[in-house]
Amino acid sequence: MVNICCIGAGYVGGPSCAVIAYQCHDVNVTIVDLNQDRIDAWNSDSLPIYEPGLDEIVFARRGKNLFFTTDVDQAIIDADLIFVSVNTPTKKTGMGAGMAADLAYIERATRRIAQVATTSKVVIEKSTVPCRTAQSMRTILEANSNKNIRFDILSNPEFLAEGTAISDLTNPDRVLIGCLQTPEGFAAQQKLVDIYTRWIPKERVITMNLWSSELSKLAANALLAQRISSINALSAICEATGADVDEVAYACGTDSRIGPKFLKASVGFGGSCFQKDILNLVYLSEQLFLPEVAAYWKSVVTMNEYQKMRFTHRIVRTLFNTVTNKRIAMLGFAFKKDTGDTRESAAITLCSYLIQEHARIAIYDPKVSAKQIKMDLTEPGVGTNEAEVDKHVQVCQSAYEACAGADALVICTEWDEFKMQQLDYQKIYDSMQKPAFIFDGRLILDAPKLREIGFKVETIGKSI
Ligand code: NAD
Ligand code: UDX
Repeated sequence: MVNICCIGAGYVGGPSCAVIAYQCHDVNVTIVDLNQDRIDAWNSDSLPIYEPGLDEIVFARRGKNLFFTTDVDQAIIDADLIFVSVNTPTKKTGMGAGMAADLAYIERATRRIAQVATTSKVVIEKSTVPCRTAQSMRTILEANSNKNIRFDILSNPEFLAEGTAISDLTNPDRVLIGCLQTPEGFAAQQKLVDIYTRWIPKERVITMNLWSSELSKLAANALLAQRISSINALSAICEATGADVDEVAYACGTDSRIGPKFLKASVGFGGSCFQKDILNLVYLSEQLFLPEVAAYWKSVVTMNEYQKMRFTHRIVRTLFNTVTNKRIAMLGFAFKKDTGDTRESAAITLCSYLIQEHARIAIYDPKVSAKQIKMDLTEPGVGTNEAEVDKHVQVCQSAYEACAGADALVICTEWDEFKMQQLDYQKIYDSMQKPAFIFDGRLILDAPKLREIGFKVETIGKSI
């Protein structure tokens, strides 16, 4: 029986290793974390993250070949393969602050493996890391290995997107496995290939060298985010010219060289990965004395910030240049639909701008708690303090409650339940101040139909 340990029971470690347990009943999977509350939640009926299809998979295998524990050391000792799936956030202070990845969690986990392992291990870098991080992990591990213990290191970046994690993991476009190009490296790589090919077609499990694998992860996220910033830049031109961004995206996307995906204009991309990973690439480019390359990738983030600010300005301008004391219903707070994750959500930036304009914001999101919203809005760097949030923000239990008495409704997240078929927009209109404004930051509403009801509608990437 193969024993797998995954260090880090977060959005990646939890689902990705739960799927391994689900697909390979003869593989023992133990997911560990230092955070006792998180582990308790994984062991309860209410899992710590919301992800469609995750409950079924965890409940099917938990206690059989899938375990969650804070006993990190024992899981390391028992494991043949160890995934390191800890967080790698942007550094907040010190060298590279605001850009470089904070590798302290990676180093701590690596040192723990080195300290407690009593047998040879394959250590798998699952977290997204700067190119050549595996080298540092290897140095730490090798400094602690003896002739009886070997550590082989692999890079196996994760490409799941939140909200679709289970289908992405079950049926991925590809799995990357990078290794050192040595006989031992290839042998370690084969062990992981043998796990994934249990349910993924062989041709989709791509093997390559360690550094290419590490860089491919940053590159893929940068390219995806770049497409969104590109369509968002075009959305500004559409608004000024009368072109329709959905039509432009369709026209461009039908070119098979461009393709239709990731061309949906929006209020701005969010999530824990895109901004962090691009900034990481920017930092790497600067470190390599490639300032033009750094500036090129930085512009993707700059455009995203601009898009969020542009949308807020449009709200304020349309509401007769003042939102002071106006009630603004914000539908959606998560960074995308089908997740409760709010990290880097555009909604946070929007709220912060609107609070500074003295608006009253009524927020409803089906999967984000009031506690989380308040925590996000009072984080250092957001620009709003607890007193301001208490005064200006109300968290509501339904879209109807948020919209009652509102001057404007803003769609921040594209949840299906906000679509025209799901919400009674006539009822919402009747309950709002007049004129009643709608700002569609996700292009999910039918503007002509809303205008028939009486709404004044403003949509990203459209002038009418
Ligand atoms: P997360 O913050 O949800 O989870 C990380 C977990 O690791 C936390 O629960 C933390 O307590 C735990 N941890 C940290 N140090 C530890 C240690 N020494 N021992 C045990 N546990 C420890 O983060 P995440 O979203 O799962 O992301 C993890 C990595 O995967 C990051 O590098 C991220 O960039 C990458 N990634 C994330 C996504 C995504 O959609 N969230 C997708 C692809 C890749
Ligand atoms: C992303 C990558 O897609 C995934 O491969 C990687 O492993 C982690 O980072 P994630 O951040 O979970 O996944 O979600 P994603 O679907 O990529 O969306 C990111 C942000 O871009 C969201 O705010 C989303 O609303 C926005 N987006 C996405 C757009 O604005 N337009 C689009 O066309 C697509």
